[in-house]
Amino acid sequence: MLKLAVLVSGGGSNLQAIIDQIEQKKLPGVTIEVVISNVAGAYALERAKQHNIPAETVLKKDYVNRELFEEALLDRINHYQPDLIVLAGCLLILPERIVKQYHNRIINIHPSLIPAFCGSGYYGLKVHEAVLARGVKVTGATVHFVDEGTDTGPIILQKAVKVEDGDTAEILQRRVMEQAEWELLPEAVRLIAEKRVVLENNIVRIMN
Ligand code: GAR
Repeated sequence: MLKLAVLVSGGGSNLQAIIDQIEQKKLPGVTIEVVISNVAGAYALERAKQHNIPAETVLKKDYVNRELFEEALLDRINHYQPDLIVLAGCLLILPERIVKQYHNRIINIHPSLIPAFCGSGYYGLKVHEAVLARGVKVTGATVHFVDEGTDTGPIILQKAVKVEDGDTAEILQRRVMEQAEWELLPEAVRLIAEKRVVLENNIVRIMN
């Protein structure tokens, strides 16, 4: 059994990729206990409701300070006792106390080949805009464990995607999702569920 809490901020296509694989019985023993958004009205919440998954929203503006917001978020996560937190398009920098409590039990999908085009300020479409501005010919996606830094945790899976002539950031974003993200994120969940992801000196080894 692997119980997930999926944290989202937007459309939730990566969440959908996990839901689809669970429904197609490709992720045996994996359940999504809750989807939590830090953005009101995120479409990802609709996706959760359509599949009878509890959907919650925790908004920073509803709390007098950041500490109380972080406490509330941690409280909602803990309520579901997840084995793994999956950041699926979650654009919140996860509070340190959550990273500490769920040490090596949080994964994130990032839309570039880390360590390129990652870190503070690189999220969503901005990543693809930066890729096009730099003129790199290959980009991709990365699933990694979350540590106290931004996009600095151990890398679990990566997949390269070609940049094509005439790409806009939107076209490239879609290709990276279709060719890499929607495959990598459920695959990382499967490997973790099968206990095949091992950390040695902060480097991930995938066991056969
Ligand atoms: C995805 O491309 C994901 O990789 C990116 O946001 C998008 C969310 O799409 N995440 C980041 O940039 C994190 N730094 P989705 O809501 O349709 O899954």
